[in-house]
Amino acid sequence: MRALVFGATSGIGLACAKALSKDYEVIGVGRDISKVSDDNIEFIECDLTDRKALRKLLNSVSCPDVIVLSQGCAYYGLHENISSDACEEMVLTDLLSPIEITNHYLSYMKQRKSGHIIFISSVTADSVNPHGACYGACKAGIRSFAKSIFEEVRKTDVKVSLISPDLTDTDLYRNAGFGVDKELVLKPEDVSEAVLFAVNKPSNVDVFDIVIRPMRNAIKK
Ligand SMILES: NC(=O)c1ccc[n+]([C@@H]2O[C@H](COP(=O)([O-])OP(=O)(O)OC[C@H]3O[C@@H](n4cnc5c(N)ncnc54)[C@H](OP(=O)(O)O)[C@@H]3O)[C@@H](O)[C@H]2O)c1
Repeated sequence: MRALVFGATSGIGLACAKALSKDYEVIGVGRDISKVSDDNIEFIECDLTDRKALRKLLNSVSCPDVIVLSQGCAYYGLHENISSDACEEMVLTDLLSPIEITNHYLSYMKQRKSGHIIFISSVTADSVNPHGACYGACKAGIRSFAKSIFEEVRKTDVKVSLISPDLTDTDLYRNAGFGVDKELVLKPEDVSEAVLFAVNKPSNVDVFDIVIRPMRNAIKK
């Protein structure tokens, strides 16, 4: 069994890659693979904003059993202060690349009548996001996309899951003017446990929608 994890060089994706590597051969994709090493994971470097590089990667990796789409970047602030380059990076990384990856592998999974695509969305997908309007729009887009894809494929035995974490202690906030209280927020492993829960369900069960919240809201300004 093979798993392909995007965003595997850090945070939630790295936790998912490690958790899955106990039962799966894992290929982990990230932008900078020099910062990670794990004997049980094969890391491949790819900047997902480079659509030619993404296409080359997809053509070189045959269809896996499980795909985890945990790539992401976020820029925060009043929208007029977010550069168009930052908006483009968010749309390409957080919205377009999961759509393209799904587009590439879906027909193989449908023909094979097996496969599981796991989208890491966010609680922001369902909320109003002042100071994070573009990021929230990308996550809402992924939520909508995943819901539609689930309905398209459910009769072909291909599974789709949407995992929506709240604040998690990762590097996602490196471009933000705030930090998180590491003691209170979720840990990447809280999210990877939810991914394993979805992956390990019997073939007739699709755990589609999981929302994970810390008990307390913990932004530090
Ligand atoms: N942290 C939270 O509070 C939180 C809450 C809800 C949802 N999420 C979602 O969880 C997912 C994972 O984020 P995280 O919190 O784990 O953040 P993270 O630690 O910053 O991880 C993001 C991952 O995405 C990769 N990535 C970013 N830009 C890329 C690009 N252009 N090309 C290829 N890979 C790229 C990073 O690779 P490099 O490190 O190699 O650049 C890294 O592996 C994201 O979709 C995020 O929206 C996070």
